[in-house]
Amino acid sequence: MPGLYRVRSPRFRFPADIASLRTELFNAFRRGIVCAILRHLVTCPVDPVSFIRRLPKAELHLHLEGTVTPETLVELSARHDSSPLDLSQAAALFQYTDFSGFLLAFKAITEHLRTPDDYELAAWRMAQRLARQGVVHAEVYVSVGVVYYWRRCEFEPLFLGMERARLRAESELGLTIYWIFDAVRHFGPEEAARVFRKAAELRPRYPSIIGIGIGGDERRTGAEPFRDLYAEARAAGLRLTAHAGETVGPEGIWGALNIGAERLGHALSAIHDPELMGILAERQIPLEICVSSNLRTGCCPRPEDHPLRRYFDAGLMVTLNSDDPALFLSDLDNEYRIAQDTFAFTQEHLRELASNSIEASFLPAERRVEILRRLESLE
Ligand code: HPA
Ligand code: ZN
Repeated sequence: MPGLYRVRSPRFRFPADIASLRTELFNAFRRGIVCAILRHLVTCPVDPVSFIRRLPKAELHLHLEGTVTPETLVELSARHDSSPLDLSQAAALFQYTDFSGFLLAFKAITEHLRTPDDYELAAWRMAQRLARQGVVHAEVYVSVGVVYYWRRCEFEPLFLGMERARLRAESELGLTIYWIFDAVRHFGPEEAARVFRKAAELRPRYPSIIGIGIGGDERRTGAEPFRDLYAEARAAGLRLTAHAGETVGPEGIWGALNIGAERLGHALSAIHDPELMGILAERQIPLEICVSSNLRTGCCPRPEDHPLRRYFDAGLMVTLNSDDPALFLSDLDNEYRIAQDTFAFTQEHLRELASNSIEASFLPAERRVEILRRLESLE
């Protein structure tokens, strides 16, 4: 095991008289105990942080733009702006006080991603951070909807930058990445159609485009207007996800299920609807839970109100995710640590959450089985 070393005892020398023999024996005994304790500490794999890090796991709810840190934003700004942002100006863009403010911050950050090289840089930095956390596979949302709506520019050239980073991540870090094209629901179905149709058009050439989703503000637009578009995307071979029940009640989750969403982002409000809880448990619909996100946007007021543990205990298919780590000052490792420290998940529970993330991924069955085997045998 890496990091192990032998604990050596000092040599025992035979003493000249009985009193010093007793002292020597006592010291040897004491050293023995100390050594045994040290050996235990060194060899016993109880360190929960390293256990979390060593868990092979998938991140299933992560927005590329939300991984851009203030430091990277400074670099991006230096590339393009006539008066570039300094670090404190960049950090100021990450400030918000509620969910609407968060969406504006997300937009401000996305506006600094302008060229294929920018997208490549963001995606490569994201991949490096994921690999450091023991993430072996990520399904990453990219806000194609924001690019189209606010910038009116072609997405494919930008996508090629992301692809360069993805291929590099696979060969250099052993990390696989799938892309999910995300539309902004409150821009309406016509804008979403551009996003989903672009995903369908590009997918045959770039099979890393695995699915589509809708983010944005559910309070302004529910799931129903996207019903036909979801059917069309499914027919094009795309997998269907949706942010649901993040800022609205259980009706938002019913809506997403009704239009065929296979995996749900947040699903925070299901806890208020026992019938829905029953359906989610019975159908084992994967939930992309994002605790830090919910607390920081104010969608969930206090940790003790978060339904994560109750979902898990009710047998729901729960996965942990970081959503927009640079905006929520978290990462996937930290989400597992929160589960452990705040929600009393044991090491075996954490292993189950990691297994769920692999099972709920859109990876082919053989790769899922291979990772699940590694997960099972991890000590
Ligand atoms: N919810 C809604 N819109 C978003 C999110 C989210 O978690 N992240 C980025 N855009
Ligand atoms: Zn999200």
